[in-house]
Amino acid sequence: MLIGNLVRFRPMEPGDAEALWRWNSDPEAMRWLDDGYPESLAQATARHSERERNFYGHVLFGIETIAEGRLIGLVRLSGAEPETGDADLDIYIGEKDCWGRGYGTEATRMICRYGFAKMRLHRITLWVAEANAAAIHVYKKVGFVEEGRAREAFRRDGDWHDLILMGLLDGELDA
Ligand SMILES: CC(C)(COP(=O)(O)OP(=O)(O)OC[C@H]1O[C@@H](n2cnc3c(N)ncnc32)[C@H](O)[C@@H]1OP(=O)(O)O)[C@@H](O)C(=O)NCCC(=O)NCCS
Repeated sequence: MLIGNLVRFRPMEPGDAEALWRWNSDPEAMRWLDDGYPESLAQATARHSERERNFYGHVLFGIETIAEGRLIGLVRLSGAEPETGDADLDIYIGEKDCWGRGYGTEATRMICRYGFAKMRLHRITLWVAEANAAAIHVYKKVGFVEEGRAREAFRRDGDWHDLILMGLLDGELDA
């Protein structure tokens, strides 16, 4: 479940802090994500050295290419509760030279399969900026459908953008 044809998942290590800091400092990679306030490499390193272990409510994996063993991004299921069977999905390929090679699609499929099979989730939910066309394309390709919209909920470079709520139910992956 954690190994695909192009990528595999692994837990994040303290040594991954530099890559995460570099991705988070890249305006293009962060264009449609909440970029928070700037953080120094030292602060990011300290934060990542104390990262809590994965558990049902927070599962985070680094995405590594199989061909090169290179860390290219991360994927996360958060907020899962057994009572609701619902979790939120985040995916982020921080190495921009790796965009458009099928890594994001495969990683999205893999984390959803993990959520439904291993965690027995009933649904996976995400919010995406309407202008993030590549991400929406990937989500629809694996089976997510649009379920709602928060109008002008995301501000980037002075402009307001709608956020789209998308959901995937158990059994709908690749539907
Ligand atoms: C969104 C993201 C995960 C996609 O990862 P990726 O590895 O580039 O995805 P893939 O290569 O598997 O697929 C990209 C698809 O989007 C399509 N695409 C690219 N740009 C597009 C655009 N402007 N409009 C529509 N489709 C687009 C590609 O053609 C490809 O589809 P295809 O395989 O059917 O031809 C990646 O770009 C990313 O991490 N971006 C930054 C963080 C981010 O925005 N995360 C999502 C937050 S909700």
